[in-house]
Amino acid sequence: MPLMEFICSSAKPSQCPETQEPEFAFLGRSNVGKSSLLNMLAGNKKLAKTSGTPGKTQLINHFKAAEGFYIADLPGYGYAKVSKVQRADFKKLIYGYLEERSNLSCAMVLIDSRLPLQNADRDMLAWLGKRGIPCAIVYTKADKNTKAALDKQLAQIRNSLLQDWTQLPPEFVSSSVDRRGGEELWAWMIQVSKSLA
Ligand code: GTP
Ligand code: MG
Repeated sequence: MPLMEFICSSAKPSQCPETQEPEFAFLGRSNVGKSSLLNMLAGNKKLAKTSGTPGKTQLINHFKAAEGFYIADLPGYGYAKVSKVQRADFKKLIYGYLEERSNLSCAMVLIDSRLPLQNADRDMLAWLGKRGIPCAIVYTKADKNTKAALDKQLAQIRNSLLQDWTQLPPEFVSSSVDRRGGEELWAWMIQVSKSLA
């Protein structure tokens, strides 16, 4: 079981811990399952706070894996049910972090496997691409669909993404309920962090 410890919460990008190690950021719309994925990888449901109400994570939360790399669990973006003011605050924090974090190795963009590609996700991936920030996609909540419905939905999302991209970034299919995709994702993160260390 991977070991992970909570390091700190930051209200501003400038308050983030000063580290040199590789870092992965968990990004995605509010409620997509960022904090749940982190807990699933850590095998600890209480490590990051999760909630059925969007907007739970309000700060940048840093965690360190025993393997030496960091994971930053960020607030969510682009969810209509989160207040306008809060959405603007989260946006400032997320983009500020992405612009300033020099040790960011990979932006992990979490996408809800049950929905068509949302504009907020398309925009985030385009923004990352423009800046040349490496990214990967993690489709979440795979347990909520049958295999056939999941495959159909993923094919649709990929088709939408291929309107903007000639090649897709690495993709993972996950569920924090049945834990699928966890080992594969963790092995990949270790491999990436080792290649950068
Ligand atoms: P914010 O911090 O608000 O941006 O949300 P988040 O992306 O961190 O989502 P969080 O992990 O808090 O999960 C949101 C809700 O989705 C919670 O009710 C979780 O239990 C549920 N959830 C997360 N991942 C999964 C999953 O893989 N399967 C199912 N069925 N539910 C999930
Ligand atoms: Mg969260």
